[in-house]
Amino acid sequence: MQADPVFEPDLIARYDRAGPRYTSYPTAVQFHEQFDTESYIENAHLTNENLVPSPLSLYFHLPFCSTVCYYCACNKIITGNRRHAANYLDFLHHEIKLQAKLFDRDRVVEQLHWGGGTPTFFDSSQMQALMRLTRSEFNLRNDDKGEYSIELDPRECDSDTIENLRLLGFNRISLGVQDFDIAVQKAVNRIQSEEQTYAVIEAARRAQFKSISIDLIYGLPLQNTASFAETLKKVIAMQPNRLSIFNYAHMPDRFKVQKQIKTEDLPDASTKLEIMKNNIQILSDAGYIYIGMDHFAKADDELSLAQNNKAMTRNFQGYTTHAECDVIGLGISAITRIGDCYAQNLHDLEAHQSAVNSNTLPVFRGFKLDNDDLLRQYVINQIICYFELDYQDVQERYLIDFQNYFYNELQILKLMQDDGLLALTDAGIAITPAGRLLVRNVCMIFDKYLKDSARQGIFSKSI
Ligand SMILES: C[S@@+](CC[C@H](N)C(=O)[O-])C[C@H]1O[C@@H](n2cnc3c(N)ncnc32)[C@H](O)[C@@H]1O
Ligand code: SF4
Repeated sequence: MQADPVFEPDLIARYDRAGPRYTSYPTAVQFHEQFDTESYIENAHLTNENLVPSPLSLYFHLPFCSTVCYYCACNKIITGNRRHAANYLDFLHHEIKLQAKLFDRDRVVEQLHWGGGTPTFFDSSQMQALMRLTRSEFNLRNDDKGEYSIELDPRECDSDTIENLRLLGFNRISLGVQDFDIAVQKAVNRIQSEEQTYAVIEAARRAQFKSISIDLIYGLPLQNTASFAETLKKVIAMQPNRLSIFNYAHMPDRFKVQKQIKTEDLPDASTKLEIMKNNIQILSDAGYIYIGMDHFAKADDELSLAQNNKAMTRNFQGYTTHAECDVIGLGISAITRIGDCYAQNLHDLEAHQSAVNSNTLPVFRGFKLDNDDLLRQYVINQIICYFELDYQDVQERYLIDFQNYFYNELQILKLMQDDGLLALTDAGIAITPAGRLLVRNVCMIFDKYLKDSARQGIFSKSI
């Protein structure tokens, strides 16, 4: 088990710069349109030819929400028009069939996730139809041993919905909360009571969901150290198995709705640091382990166990178990990772629909990793998931001399070592407790595409 991270404000302030969150490597910025539907189909077929084909993980993007939260950076469609959403399901059904044809039928779906938007925007019969079709096209588990999860907005979900979801085969939920303080909730246009949230958690416990996760955001307007500590105390009392405390990414030029947030209401950098420091202390005292990059989990949670057993990975949903799976993304903007490549679906609803209606997968860009990309992907994944890297392990997997291959990178890491972020030995790299909160800065050194500094403005900051 890892030691708790140590909070060193000077170090954090010095390294606080924009950078990727490494939910993929290379990041989506590198995806290009030469990688098209044809390339995708070719690569999908290749994954069936492995001696033991990987199990599958299915991600469904269900983008609709009935109201907008002003901070939201997710890819969502705000609408009151339920017909609009029904139409989406029609072409999603078609897309599922197109994808399912590419993969051998015996490949087990170990992991399944409905994300959004707000998946429960759909009614029970629509959700049932979607799951039924998925089961008929893919090899889903029937023994409740798969990891089948859904993102829930407690404002769009009652106890009947929870029971129905359990019957459909879901066994894990994550709930958006963000902040319980009413002034903050008003400032972000998301009024959600503790009672509402607690009712969903209670219903999920009654229905024997195996894991409950809660999302919070720090850095929202009108937050202060005391108010956020109060929210965190209330959340801990609800005893979630996992917690994600995201750093608010305020990029109003990219996410127009964020213009509704008054800049002068945002907490300043020192308040955000203070909030973060408190979070780590409060959660550690309450028995949560810092997994890394915004994520915390109880010591007996699968994610903590996967971290201990080195069976964790990072993907577009954050840290996750089942590193062995090929991930298929369905729905607008969804990202697929299969074999040695990434592929992304069209963002635009109409373009997506018209591709699917003409029996074409809606892939518009992607990336095929070469040997150097795969090596760097492995190194970054090891560091971001386990806070350490074993040179021997990398050398055996990729047949390189690590210290030679990464000579230039190691010169920069030596400076980071002088700053106390990490320790270099003949055997490998170990991130120090003070370096844990800055782990992505270490990963950035191995990212060969980051050198184009002009691109850096598109990423959010570390803290
Ligand atoms: C798709 S939403 C969750 C499901 C559901 N729509 C809800 O809001 O309850 C995923 C999570 O992303 C996080 N999020 C959204 N916008 C963010 C931003 N600008 N910065 C940091 N986190 C953000 C929120 O914590 C949110 O719960
Ligand atoms: S935070 Fe959730 S509910 Fe709010 S707009 Fe974003 S996706 Fe929709």
